[in-house]
Amino acid sequence: VPTRLVGLPGSLRKESFSRATLASLRGSLPSRTSLEILSPELPLYNEDEDGNHASLKVRQFRNAVANSAGLIIVTPEYNHGMPGVLKNALDWASRPYGKSVLIDKPVLVISVSPAFTGGVRAHAQVNETLLSIPARLVGGAQVVIGNVTKKVSDGVLDQSFLSFAMQSVNRLIELSRSASALAAIGAL
Ligand code: FNR
Repeated sequence: VPTRLVGLPGSLRKESFSRATLASLRGSLPSRTSLEILSPELPLYNEDEDGNHASLKVRQFRNAVANSAGLIIVTPEYNHGMPGVLKNALDWASRPYGKSVLIDKPVLVISVSPAFTGGVRAHAQVNETLLSIPARLVGGAQVVIGNVTKKVSDGVLDQSFLSFAMQSVNRLIELSRSASALAAIGAL
């Protein structure tokens, strides 16, 4: 069975390093694995507009996450936190309460930044938000990519960082496959 992953960049920018990182990871996936890159561009979360009448974009976003085996979030850091557009997308994905498409979903978080600090504070915030849902975080090495302007050229991530990030992507794939297998037999 192919493993279907989705990617969520924490940026709307056309030349986003976050999206370029996701695209580079997609180019390095093992066989029988796919990565669909989603857009975080959704209306601002409003509980009055949630439920059966949630907008089409929101329903499509939730379905894409629900139908995936795992999620890769690549985010920049804005003012020492995660960008609002990413928090907003996670807030939509977190509802309805108790039935979130992210419950038990394997998630790998990666941060990127032109600064050498690598967006580490945004990284920590995203993890904290995901724990509240609760999603299943891929642990191990924290994948933060500092000095990203020097590591992405022509939209492609430098090979050494790609190999470093792929170790965690492979952990995500393993976790996604075992979670999907358990779900298939009704154990999850
Ligand atoms: C930034 N940037 C930034 N970088 C960082 O490492 N720490 C920070 O606190 C901030 N703060 C910040 C605030 C705002 C409003 C903007 C627009 C930018 C720089 C940011 O990392 C840089 O613009 C990235 O290139 C944005 O990611 P994408 O769009 O390339 O994915």
